[in-house]
Amino acid sequence: MPQYRFSPVRAAPLILLATLLSRVSADYVLVDDYEPSNFFDKFDFFTANDPTQGYVDYVNQTSAQEDGLIGNTSDRVYIGVDTKNTYNVYSDRGRPSVRLQSTQSYTHGLFILDLNHMPYGCGTWPAWWTVGDINTWPADGEIDIIEGVNANQNNTNKIYTANKGCSITGRGQSAIADAFDCSQGCGSQSTNPYSYGAGFGMISGGVYAMEWTSDYIRVWFFDRSNIPRSISAGQPDSSDFGMPMSNFQGACDIDRYFRNHKIVFDITFCGTWAGQAFNASPSCPLTPGHDAWDSCKFYVAGNPSAFQNAYWDINWMRVYQNTGGSSSAAASSSYPSTPISVAGSSFFGSSSGDLALGQSSPTTSALFFQTSASFFASSLAATSSSFVVVHSSFAVPSSFSVVQTPGKPYNSFTAVALFSDTLQAR
Ligand SMILES: *[C@@H]1O[C@H](CO)[C@@H](O)[C@H](O)[C@H]1NC(C)=O
Ligand SMILES: *[C@@H]1O[C@H](CO)[C@@H](O)[C@H](O)[C@H]1NC(C)=O
Ligand SMILES: *[C@@H]1O[C@H](CO)[C@@H](O)[C@H](O)[C@H]1NC(C)=O
Repeated sequence: MPQYRFSPVRAAPLILLATLLSRVSADYVLVDDYEPSNFFDKFDFFTANDPTQGYVDYVNQTSAQEDGLIGNTSDRVYIGVDTKNTYNVYSDRGRPSVRLQSTQSYTHGLFILDLNHMPYGCGTWPAWWTVGDINTWPADGEIDIIEGVNANQNNTNKIYTANKGCSITGRGQSAIADAFDCSQGCGSQSTNPYSYGAGFGMISGGVYAMEWTSDYIRVWFFDRSNIPRSISAGQPDSSDFGMPMSNFQGACDIDRYFRNHKIVFDITFCGTWAGQAFNASPSCPLTPGHDAWDSCKFYVAGNPSAFQNAYWDINWMRVYQNTGGSSSAAASSSYPSTPISVAGSSFFGSSSGDLALGQSSPTTSALFFQTSASFFASSLAATSSSFVVVHSSFAVPSSFSVVQTPGKPYNSFTAVALFSDTLQAR
């Protein structure tokens, strides 16, 4: 095996170690645009009994359309409930409403919803959320983005996993984390009284965003005066979103517990949350001689006009996914892609990124440094904390490559390029 060394007598040794720091979530592309003109074509209407035991009659699309529960103009989508009729608590399934689930499923992505109004009021339990196969719930996980009950004004975020083994730290977020084992539901309560319910409607809503990567699941809420420019420009970049409302991150292998989610909008009534907590909102009236659960049903059955605010008013929803290429402009323009011939052998200018999990990683900035052979070796060791560096030894400089650590697909990636006309066989 030939030995190589840097010759001090030739031109200055030149080895470039390029660390490409990918900015999280750049390079998102729009994969699904839910506009008012196609919105309802992109959902199925769930008509089974509410899995959360709500006092609700989920109707199909035809009935919803005919009875005015859903509607759209050229720029708005309306999703509401029956506000005209009374029902019998003992013999009726519940108040008519809808539960929409996207025909499309997603793993990872940035989900953005612009809305003016969300459902609220005593007895209501609306949610905008994503969920895997409902028949094996929660095997493929659940992510609750907008959710609450009754007279709540502070949004609740939760994620659910099938098994113990996913926990979150609750750090790096503005909401108050109050549950950390996701098999029981990891949860956070926003401190923003305009993030849900009547408060949300009072400010004409805003934009909610949920970002789901292999490393974390985050939720943001922006009122209309604080919508990030990148969102308005249609090129969302979560690095300019600021601190999230919720940051689900910690000892959790996200890709193991979350996959193939459909997007759901629903408005249910009472049941396992709104019913049980009906007496927690002082404005929600108890029926004498009945508990919170039943009082909720009596209220929902008997007061159609109390549900005037139980509707979603949506401008648009967009789903972005990260499908960017793996090599940056900086890297490709700086480095030749063909091997550099060195003293009868070959070195490769090499850059590669985000090789784990078949994902591509965006790269928008590059940091280059020029260094010496020994520094190169130690830099390699330094960067290998987040990367498995597979390379032949210096003694056999045929080629090397950089492989990302599984589970770190979006944080950063390193490309190592080695160029020299001064390496030579000894
Ligand atoms: C929708 O529901 C109504 C009321 O239950 C029913 O009569 C109708 O057949 C359903 N339509 C479809 C397309 O399933
Ligand atoms: C409302 O949505 C339907 C599709 O569900 C579409 O055909 C129709 O054009 C939309 N109406 C307007 C005014 O955009
Ligand atoms: C919302 O959060 C704020 C701040 O934590 C709290 O003071 C307020 O009581 C909460 N409101 C409701 C309705 O929970």
